[in-house]
Amino acid sequence: MKNKNNIVEPETMVIFGATGDLTHRKLLPALYFLEHHQELPKDFSITCSARRDKTDEEYQNEAEKSIRQFSRIKVDNNHLKKLLSRIHYHQLEFNNIGHYRSLAKYLGKKGSSNQGIIFYLATPPIFFDKTVKNLASVKLAGSSKKFRNNRVVFEKPFGKNLATAKKLNREISKVFHERQIFRIDHYLAKELVQNLIVMRFANSIFEPMWNTSHIDHVQITVAETLGIEGRGSYYDKNGSLRDVVQNHLMQLLCLTAMECPKSLSADDIRNEKVKVLKAIAKSRNLRKESVKGQYTSSLQDGKEVAAYRSEEDVRKNSTTSTYFAIKFRINNKKWRNVPFYVRTGKHLKDRATEIVIQYKKPLRKLFATKNYSLGNNQLIIRVQPDEGIILKFNAKIPGNRILIDQVSMDFCHECKFGPNTAESYERLFYDIMCNDQTLFTRWDEVESSWKIIDRIRDTWHDVEPYFYKRGTWGPKEADRLIEKDRRKWAIPQKPSYSILLNQK
Ligand code: BG6
Repeated sequence: MKNKNNIVEPETMVIFGATGDLTHRKLLPALYFLEHHQELPKDFSITCSARRDKTDEEYQNEAEKSIRQFSRIKVDNNHLKKLLSRIHYHQLEFNNIGHYRSLAKYLGKKGSSNQGIIFYLATPPIFFDKTVKNLASVKLAGSSKKFRNNRVVFEKPFGKNLATAKKLNREISKVFHERQIFRIDHYLAKELVQNLIVMRFANSIFEPMWNTSHIDHVQITVAETLGIEGRGSYYDKNGSLRDVVQNHLMQLLCLTAMECPKSLSADDIRNEKVKVLKAIAKSRNLRKESVKGQYTSSLQDGKEVAAYRSEEDVRKNSTTSTYFAIKFRINNKKWRNVPFYVRTGKHLKDRATEIVIQYKKPLRKLFATKNYSLGNNQLIIRVQPDEGIILKFNAKIPGNRILIDQVSMDFCHECKFGPNTAESYERLFYDIMCNDQTLFTRWDEVESSWKIIDRIRDTWHDVEPYFYKRGTWGPKEADRLIEKDRRKWAIPQKPSYSILLNQK
């Protein structure tokens, strides 16, 4: 059936990895959100698959518990009941072809015509390839026209490096066309990230000055106070470079640096993002232009908290990064001589994702003497928390003499639009249903990004990291990275409006 936008509505979704953390914390609550807002197709059903044997009822009880615990909105019993009635459980071991056969039979029995099925792979990536092959061999998916309305969703990471990502892509492309493939990067669905395109291209005041003539440099920070949260065995193989830089940070960089796309279509936007990735200069001295860090223990409330190397499932001599900072240069006219400093880390002092556009020093003709302290203009896109946009500029302090201070104009997203903006997965699910790939990464983006990350990883592979204490802003070598260019990291600060938000 087609919906009002003339899009074939999916009939069913199969979630692989349905007993995992992601499904319980994010996917089920997001599906509840869609049910609550009546955004699921009328006869839509959800088949949850995992290794353990369970009845529908057992799984529904677990799903109910998770939705009650993790839902962002108040749970209404009627909507919850309706959602649970759509959910079924089907036991499936990834490598057991017999289980896929019975899945095919089961979906057939439930009236599915093998069209409009969403396959959601919320599984460890090592199962991506096998799962797709098995789906094809039991004729639940394939290149024939009959399957053209099927979609497949991959959680990150897509590959471990360029070679494995290519291999994986080759395999899945035998079964699914690029327009059926949804590669998740949940940062793209964050409201302030989506707002970047609007802020830049729906206003006349920013874009004319969005270039090397006016911008001194750009900083992008993804700072977390959380650590690896029991994910030692995954994290130790990946580190912050693969976990956050390859995907979230590169996407933020692309959306900040790209030229205006021809249209808002998924492909036009992704074409521009790829151009940025391809223009990133190959540094001749990566070791000098990047810093790999790892947290050590520190005292918290008088108690010693663990160093990364003492975390569960982490190698005692691990050189994996829990912090990474790098200076990128973009080889094009727009960004000539404008460095992009990006950094991310776990167990840092504060949680903040921000893009800081640092404008050049103001022309000082009128205010040339030392009596005036003029700050650089700054535009801060505060992605989270306390979402908003902050513009810093110089203003006169009241009084008989001209004295200048830096003030800011703040746009507080929640004050204006309320607290209930969609959570990433709510938005991503909605877009998968509507077949809109804008907020998902296309193969050439993934490929170009891995090319960059592989070079960096090769440079730092097995090299001892610089250490930083938990609860700080990272290793001091990262400060030197930017200070040797006579610049400073902008320390994320709570916007003035955060007081209002806390009072609510
Ligand atoms: C995930 C990473 O992709 O993003 C995590 O695997 C990280 O390590 C998380 O903590 C950060 O996402 P958010 O939405 O909490 O900023």
